[in-house]
Amino acid sequence: MRTRVAIIGAGPAGLLLSQLLHDRGIDAVLLEARDREYCEGRQRAGMLEQATVDVLREAGAADRLDREGLVHHGIHLRFAGRDRHIDFPSRTGGRSVTVYGQTEIVKDLVAKRIAEGARMYFDAPVTAIEGIDGAAPRVRFLRDGVEEVLECDLVAGCDGFHGVSRGAIPADVLKTHERAHPFAWLGILADVAPSTDDLIYAYSERGFALHSMRSRAVSRLYLQVDPDADLADWPDERIWAELRERLALPGWRLDEGPIRERSITPMRSFVAEPMSFGRLFLAGDAAHIVPPTGAKGLNLAMADVRVLARACAEYFLAGSRAGLDGYSDACLRRVWRAEQFSSWMTTLLHARADASGFDRRCQEAELAYVADSSAAMDSLAENYVGYTWAD
Ligand code: FAD
Ligand code: DHB
Repeated sequence: MRTRVAIIGAGPAGLLLSQLLHDRGIDAVLLEARDREYCEGRQRAGMLEQATVDVLREAGAADRLDREGLVHHGIHLRFAGRDRHIDFPSRTGGRSVTVYGQTEIVKDLVAKRIAEGARMYFDAPVTAIEGIDGAAPRVRFLRDGVEEVLECDLVAGCDGFHGVSRGAIPADVLKTHERAHPFAWLGILADVAPSTDDLIYAYSERGFALHSMRSRAVSRLYLQVDPDADLADWPDERIWAELRERLALPGWRLDEGPIRERSITPMRSFVAEPMSFGRLFLAGDAAHIVPPTGAKGLNLAMADVRVLARACAEYFLAGSRAGLDGYSDACLRRVWRAEQFSSWMTTLLHARADASGFDRRCQEAELAYVADSSAAMDSLAENYVGYTWAD
């Protein structure tokens, strides 16, 4: 089999790239290790920056997002019995964010790619990537247990943190940076109307809690738990009791409902650089992971793909390698901004078991400052909606 761009992974990054290349008339083949149902069912992120909504519109994959997405104009910061609403449009020149589940984005893109006859193979794990430092890369994958080879001009590694692409970059070229966070998030999806208008990010000495949502009838909530926490130790009543405690505010009540989904996600900060080598280009979680507190993971993946699709178009349609050569640097500037912001939000809002009294009082002082200072709220807002550079 032969194509121009071999895309590895049918997460949001690989699917969007497949769509954007198709729209530019560039042939691509997408290979995904898991089945369609699995890809469409994975509960993950939900908060979209305006730029992510815009690129999905550009890809013609935003009809349902425009109908069902919930536009939010701010977040609540809740701690010590206080609630500070941070308004986004007034602090960011009119920008806001949209809640729409990653699962729904994946469903919308898969349906559109299939309807348009894309060459997209599920249950087709990539086993090796060869020749990326030459002119004719080859991607080896399995179909029905039989090895096949995909020949291509470029390889897009969109295969997430545990994929094979990053490992194809020689070890003496690839530099990785990592920070461990001693927390995990227990996330639930519950059939109950959200008890809030905008998302609530809450700090308490018991730990962090986040009240998000998926629709007017479905709530998405998260709790900070230990990294080695076991779901078996978290029956429904314990989850709700802990959420009630951590989100508590005089005069406010958390409505409860049946829990339909639950999972525990470890937290990690990770960056691999450069994000490209020869004819291989990493995008999304394959190259970088952020702790989820700033809601940046999915948005970064979409931003990488926007840059990569443009660079591919320059290469195949105008014969210029400039975009491909600049890809890694262009992405890493945004990635490091998001890494810093996500780490900062995580440190601000999570309770560390090993924090000294001094550390804890400093954290409380910073929370109080963020909730009081207009400059601090401006800074949080401009990063949350997605920082854009002046140049
Ligand atoms: P992925 O979505 O990971 O997609 C990669 C795809 O590649 C997968 O379908 C995988 O099966 C496939 N693949 C892997 N190896 C191979 C192979 N060898 N061959 C072929 N295909 C392969 N972000 C937030 O902002 N908020 C959140 O609440 C949040 N929760 C998360 C919870 C979990 C459990 C995880 C893992 C991530 C979460 N994230 C969250 C991050 C966000 O979901 C990711 O940033 C986003 O999924 C990145 O998209 P991606 O397309 O780069 O990678
Ligand atoms: C959601 C996840 C996040 O990590 C976040 O910061 C905000 C919202 C969500 O899944 O809705």
